[in-house]
Amino acid sequence: MIDYKDPKYTSTERANALLSLMTNEEKVGQMMQLAYKFMTREEALEWAKKGLGSYLHVLGDNADELQRTAINETRLGIPIIFGIDCIHGHALNEYATVFPTQLAMAQSFDREAMRKCGRVSATEVRCDSLHWTFSPVFCIGRDTRWGRINETFGEDPYLIGELGAAIVDGYQNNFVDNTCIMACAKHYIAYGESIGGRDAYDSMVSERMIRETFLPPFEKAAKAGCKTYMTGYQSVDGVPMNSNRRLLREVLKEEVGVDGFIITDWANVRSLIDNQKVCDNFEDASRVSIDAGNDMIMQTEEFYDATLKLIENGQVDMKHIDDSVFRILKAKFDMGLFEHPFEKPDRSKICCDEHVEVDLEVTRESMTLLKNDGILPINTKKVRKIAVIGPNADDLEAQYGDWSCGAANGHRKPATSMLKGIKKRAKKDGIEVVYKKGCDIEKPGKRGFNAAIKAAKESDLIIAVMGDYIELNGEYKSRATLDLPGEQTALLIELKKTKKPIVLVMVNGKPLCINWEAENMNAILETFNSGMVGGTVAAEILFGDVNPSGKLPISFPRTAGQVPVYYNYLPGWHGDNKYKDIEEGPLYPFGFGLSYTTFEYSNLSVSKTEFTEADGEIIVTAKIKNTGKVKGTEIAQMYIHDVVGTVMRPILELKGFERVELDAGEEKTVSFTLPVEELKVVEQNLERVLEKGDFEIMVGGSSVDLPLITTIKAV
Ligand code: NOJ
Repeated sequence: MIDYKDPKYTSTERANALLSLMTNEEKVGQMMQLAYKFMTREEALEWAKKGLGSYLHVLGDNADELQRTAINETRLGIPIIFGIDCIHGHALNEYATVFPTQLAMAQSFDREAMRKCGRVSATEVRCDSLHWTFSPVFCIGRDTRWGRINETFGEDPYLIGELGAAIVDGYQNNFVDNTCIMACAKHYIAYGESIGGRDAYDSMVSERMIRETFLPPFEKAAKAGCKTYMTGYQSVDGVPMNSNRRLLREVLKEEVGVDGFIITDWANVRSLIDNQKVCDNFEDASRVSIDAGNDMIMQTEEFYDATLKLIENGQVDMKHIDDSVFRILKAKFDMGLFEHPFEKPDRSKICCDEHVEVDLEVTRESMTLLKNDGILPINTKKVRKIAVIGPNADDLEAQYGDWSCGAANGHRKPATSMLKGIKKRAKKDGIEVVYKKGCDIEKPGKRGFNAAIKAAKESDLIIAVMGDYIELNGEYKSRATLDLPGEQTALLIELKKTKKPIVLVMVNGKPLCINWEAENMNAILETFNSGMVGGTVAAEILFGDVNPSGKLPISFPRTAGQVPVYYNYLPGWHGDNKYKDIEEGPLYPFGFGLSYTTFEYSNLSVSKTEFTEADGEIIVTAKIKNTGKVKGTEIAQMYIHDVVGTVMRPILELKGFERVELDAGEEKTVSFTLPVEELKVVEQNLERVLEKGDFEIMVGGSSVDLPLITTIKAV
């Protein structure tokens, strides 16, 4: 007989042994997760005594008390797993490190940086007795009207998969010690395709499209060993994701073969009754949710009684219940929770110097220079007075972005607004800085204009810090217009009349339609939501201490009517991406970003010009030279184009990227590994195969600047 408490057995053996001892009540309890903040302490302790599997949004001493109850006052002593939305840092702890948002960090195109951020966040949330984050987001951000664009790694499935897998690895780190947490790949699947960019509606995508575009990032999560997956709020082709047996049980569990468990999103079971109306009672909603493949149910208390009733009446397949409980228990064993339910890393690690350094490193890579007529870096000899203007110059909350849960009011020592960062850096060169807000983000009113114009006139340079704020980003916060909100452009028009040069620093959750700004500003630096050290880093870039190296992980539309606009579209008949009334293509394309130096590409070569599936991979190399006067880092990008397919092929597909650091005049060879698997097509019959024929391989600095091209052939 295997003792489930004995660590000499494998997780699988222990989970099976424990499962065989459990009552139906204990099993259903393990399948539930409840939110602490919506109950009293007494109710929470009651649920712990019933053997609740998980709580979310409770930390520190409160979590420890629940854990003690679960271990000491339940028959089997199964530890609770505590989950949290640590989305870009542990926002619920007012001292913890706040990283840039996913969209901001995606500008780095840096897998290793993602891994390091995952490590830091995991260590810090573990200090508060938490074991699990609902991150990263693997949704594809094509429709920029959607409120949750800031949570994505942008528009490209390859980039999303690569960066997402790296952060999963950082969070989990093979559960080697008490600094590791479980990751959660969310929101399965095509949640970002919700019609019209509205949050949590129907996504009109076919299964072929899902397999070709939306599934690959989740497959990379699975390959990285991601322990959990979250079922989205949306429906796909009229079937709520939560009751979507085909996509959850058959595709994700059986085909992809995830090792771990699936948790629903918040109140998804209830939503089948209240919103999506495919069930009219909790028993039915619980039955279809279990049948579909969900293992843990987030925040639907009624699931407990309803499921026990289903079991009693033989209306649910016990095989499914046992499979779910097994998966949950195995995950708890895998992460060592039974051995170390209370163990925490050293608290002095929270926002320690080493963690701030990681944040600085990734933030330095996570800003994109969109325009520069030569005004940047700031000429500190000529510029003696700077006017910093705009509603986002001194607003940490806007800078942190969504999922920062009031972090802006926290006691984070390195927290630096754009204004603070610029002031501090300018002081080094004896430059005076004046600040005028000028206007609000959304509120109408030009009362602040005069003071801003006066300050501008008395200065040598204007740094306008503008964009949006958390009221315009996040769940339920989709937008139908994508212009700079409120009076911001009106203020810029007035500032332009002063004839002083203007650098626009964008602090925003998503691409905005900044056509006038693109035309009229001297320089534009996109920072998205850059987190805690954003102000320090923006100043370093503006003053030339750091050479910008970020590239856009998402296209900037010219107008909301052009959305979705993304680089990897399928070809059409009547002019790609064309509208009668606007210029063709996005305002700023995917992969684009300027540097203070220039790069030249040459010598493209491939390890094989003809290949078969058995070859496994192709190595693509190219030379890159820094042809400018300063050191810089280029994000070299490799794209493919499948020339003819049995189904239409995207005009371009990113399949490789590397950051290459080069001194002035230096040349290096960059090498990309192209797995043959990445060249496969999902055919009409839904099979993924390598089709014979030509593939163009292109290398360059953005999706619209690919000077090197060659052709390889699948034979
Ligand atoms: C709802 C959100 O959609 C999801 O991303 C989040 O993890 C859960 N709530 C838990 O807070």
